[in-house]
Amino acid sequence: MSHLFGHNGAPNTGYSQPNSIQTASKPTIPKGLVRKNAARWPRLSEPEMVRHYTWLSKRNFGIDTGFYPLGSCTMKHNPRVNEVIAQLPGIADIHPHQPEHHLQGFLSIYFEMQHMLEVCAGMDQVTLQPVAGAQGEFTAVRCIQEYFRLRGESQRNKVIVPDSAHGTNPASAAMAGFEIVEIPSREDGRIDLEALRAVADETTAAMMITNPNTLGLFEADISEASNIVHAAGGQMYYDGANFNAILGITSPGLMGFDAVHFNLHKTFSQPHGGGGPGSGPIGVKAHLAEFLPGPLAARRTPSPEETPLAVDKYWYHWTEPEHSIGKVQQWHGNAGAVIRCWAYYRRYGSGLKTMSEHAVLNANYLRHAIHKTAQEAGVSHLFNDGATTDVAKHEFTLSMLPAKEQLGISAMDVAKGLLDRGYMAPTVYFPLVVPECMMIEPTETESKDTLDTFAHHFAEVLKVDAETLHAAPVTTPVRRVDEVYAARNLCLRHPYDE
Ligand SMILES: Cc1ncc(COP(=O)(O)O)c(C=O)c1O
Repeated sequence: MSHLFGHNGAPNTGYSQPNSIQTASKPTIPKGLVRKNAARWPRLSEPEMVRHYTWLSKRNFGIDTGFYPLGSCTMKHNPRVNEVIAQLPGIADIHPHQPEHHLQGFLSIYFEMQHMLEVCAGMDQVTLQPVAGAQGEFTAVRCIQEYFRLRGESQRNKVIVPDSAHGTNPASAAMAGFEIVEIPSREDGRIDLEALRAVADETTAAMMITNPNTLGLFEADISEASNIVHAAGGQMYYDGANFNAILGITSPGLMGFDAVHFNLHKTFSQPHGGGGPGSGPIGVKAHLAEFLPGPLAARRTPSPEETPLAVDKYWYHWTEPEHSIGKVQQWHGNAGAVIRCWAYYRRYGSGLKTMSEHAVLNANYLRHAIHKTAQEAGVSHLFNDGATTDVAKHEFTLSMLPAKEQLGISAMDVAKGLLDRGYMAPTVYFPLVVPECMMIEPTETESKDTLDTFAHHFAEVLKVDAETLHAAPVTTPVRRVDEVYAARNLCLRHPYDE
């Protein structure tokens, strides 16, 4: 990489401009702020720059380059029409400070998005402010905290999570100042109602749970769990990261939840990964609505002066909830992500139910295809599907424990072997309750051919001898890294002097 960086004072420059432009305006930078030495920018010509970024892009792996069955992350195809719509000048070129009469179209989209999510989730009010699922969790538990504070129930300082919960659930609740109470799951991976009964009491603020749960299993006892928590005076929080499995089929509202977050970037498509960019709106039942962060999009009958600009006979405007917990994000959240997801929803309409049905169908098809292919290849004894004994929802888990015990091949080895075959590795070692866990989520946007070929390669990887697999991946730009070291010792800038 060092060839990309010129040396201090090197004579070459990466561009040239007509003199008239170079001398057109004299900089008026205060003397004390003027550089003493030339900036050490890369000195490259335009073709060199283009080649550099194209080269970098080819080292990356994304949903546009291959199958990405990363369980819990719902990496689905992002339709290009979303990009076209998000980049329309009336959307991309507006400024958040523009007055409402400039923003009627934009506001109407926000309103429609809020309303669609309210209907899908069975909630009364949605805010589009949070920009990630985890931020949505934090926002919602803060609303719950304020709700209890105003009711004089500040002793409710505990949040219950099952041991299969996504790590962000206890982390968000702890950040808001709650004590975490973890309850064990049953043998079959589902919620243990007796364990819940034993801990739900007058100190319970909320229970946080996702359904289908992180093993991809539907929690059939969820209504009873809601009854237990409500009887103790607590609130039910729905982690909507797994919404892709149930959209249009059932809703958190029907299951008895009071608050929910949506990972728009998963369920409704939006390029994401590596932590962003995303959108994590939350929806709440009426009793929590006054605590939401604003602004919220609302509508009313227009005045005579407003009528000519009104959209569908309504005047759209921003409102602030009365006892809002305050801002969690600047401006109107991640507007680009909201618009892309709105475009996606608009294209599907009532077909969103079919989307979820196909996501579940694909997951179950792949689960069986992997079993069948592995059986034919004589390697099915090297894994089992842990607690998953019945129909999975949109994702499923496999335990590589037998492969580890019999051959010394871990879930990580299999994941790395799949990288060499051109696949993004499935999620590994999550959820923690499944030993040597691999978690696979194909999504509805993959074809039968893709799923069959992946099942074939999965079985092929299991046929590779342990020593070879320990060395995988060998075809990727970066070989196997020490992930803990890499996470703890982030290297985010180019060392100029090397
Ligand atoms: C079950 C579950 N909950 C919460 C989250 C957090 O969402 P985000 O990554 O948008 O912060 C995730 C993300 O992977 C998840 O899978």
